[in-house]
Amino acid sequence: MKPVFDLYSGQIDADPFPSYAALREEHPCYWSDDNGLWILSRFEDVFAAAQDWRTFSSTSGNLIDELPGRTGATLGTTDPPRHDRLRALAAAAFARKNMAALIEPTRELARSALAVALEKPVFDYITDFSSKVTVGLLFQLLGLPESDAAEIRRKVVLSISTDKEKRGRNDEQIAAFADISRFITEEVESRRAAPRDDLITALATAEIDGDRLSDREVVLTTATFVMAGVESLSSFMSMFALNLHDYPDARRRVVANAELMPLAIEESLRFNTSAQRFKRVATRDVELHGKTIKAGDRVALAYGSANRDWRKFRNPDVYDIERRPQGHMGFGAGPHFCLGSNMGRLVTQEAMRVFLDAVPEYHLTIEKLAWTPSSNFRSPVAMPFEIGHA
Ligand code: HEM
Repeated sequence: MKPVFDLYSGQIDADPFPSYAALREEHPCYWSDDNGLWILSRFEDVFAAAQDWRTFSSTSGNLIDELPGRTGATLGTTDPPRHDRLRALAAAAFARKNMAALIEPTRELARSALAVALEKPVFDYITDFSSKVTVGLLFQLLGLPESDAAEIRRKVVLSISTDKEKRGRNDEQIAAFADISRFITEEVESRRAAPRDDLITALATAEIDGDRLSDREVVLTTATFVMAGVESLSSFMSMFALNLHDYPDARRRVVANAELMPLAIEESLRFNTSAQRFKRVATRDVELHGKTIKAGDRVALAYGSANRDWRKFRNPDVYDIERRPQGHMGFGAGPHFCLGSNMGRLVTQEAMRVFLDAVPEYHLTIEKLAWTPSSNFRSPVAMPFEIGHA
C-alpha cells in the first residue's frame, strides 16, 4: 500500500523518520498527492539532484511553500550563472568577518542569556537561550538594532511556519515576511546613505570586477541571512541540546571531554538537522526508479532522510557521537551548500560549551514536545528544561 506522506499532517513535524524509512525502502521516488510534489529520500538520489541544478532548478524558490517576493534575487532562489555571481559577492562580504572574531561575542551572549535563564526554576532553552544567542549575534553582525530582535524573531518563526488548515501559508505568515523585507529595506537605505562597519554595508558595497549587488539583492540576501541565522541556527542548536538530553551518555562524554563537542555537532547535523527538506522544480522529464518526474513538477530533496539511509551510513538510526559522518547533508550539497556552515558549527560549539559548563545535567519538564508546523524545517516550539539529572 502506498504510504501517506503529508507535510501538513503534524506527524511529519513531530517525527518524520519512520515515514522517511518507508519511502526510502518502498517508494524512493514518491509522488505525494496530498502535497503535489515528488519526494526524493535516498542519499544517492538526493545528492545527485542537489548537484544537478540544470535539471532540478531553484529559480522558483527552495521553500516548499515559497514566500511571495523572494524568488530570483537571493542565493536559494537562483541557479547558476546568476547564483554564482550572488554567491561570490555574498561570500566576499561574509569573508570580511573573521569567524574567530565571533567566539567572544557568542560566549558573551550565551553567558548573559544563561544568567537570566537560570534565575527561573524552569527555563525555555529556545526563547531563553538558543534564540537569544543566535538572534543577538546575527543582529550584531548585520548592525541591526537590538530593540527589534524579539519582534523580528517572532516574524521569522511565523514566516517559516505553515497553516495546517490552509495547507500552505496563511495571510499572517505571508505578511510576516513582507514586514521583515520592509524592515531590512529601510536598514539598507540607511547604509547606502551612511556606510558602517557591518555585514549589510559589506553586502551593499561588495564588488567583484566592478559588479555589485542591486538593492533588491542586498535586501533579500540579508533576509536569507536573518532567516538562516534566526531559524536554521537557533533550531539546530536546540536540536543539538535535545540530542544531548535524549542521549545522556553522549552528553556526559561531551561534558568530560571538550574535544568530542565538534564530533557530536556533526553527528547531530546528520541525525536530525533542523533543515529537513528543500524544494526544486524539474526543468525536463526525468526517469527515476520507474517513475517519470515531468518538467515543471515540484521535487522535495529530503536531506533529513538521506542522512538516515543505511546505504550511506551504517546503523543510521543510532546517535553515535564518534561516527564522523563524512559527507552528511545537514548543510545540503552542490551549489547551494550552506554558506553559513562554519559559522553554524562554531556558534553552536561556543554557546553549548558555556551552557554545559553551567548546566551539565538537565531534563525536560514536559513529556511531549510541540513542533513548529513547517514544510521545510523541524524545530520544537519550546523546550522547558530544569537543571538536574536527566
Ligand atoms: C546549523 C545551522 C544551519 C543549518 C542546519 C543550515 C542548513 C542549510 C541547508 C540545508 C541549506 C541548503 C538549502 C538548499 O539546498 O536549497 C542552506 C543554505 C544556506 N544557508 Fe544555511 N544552515 C545553517 C546556518 C546558516 C547560517 C548561520 C547562515 C548565515 C548567516 C546560513 C546561510 C545560508 C545561505 C545564504 C544559504 C543559501 C546558499 C545557496 O543557495 O548558495 N546558514 N543552509
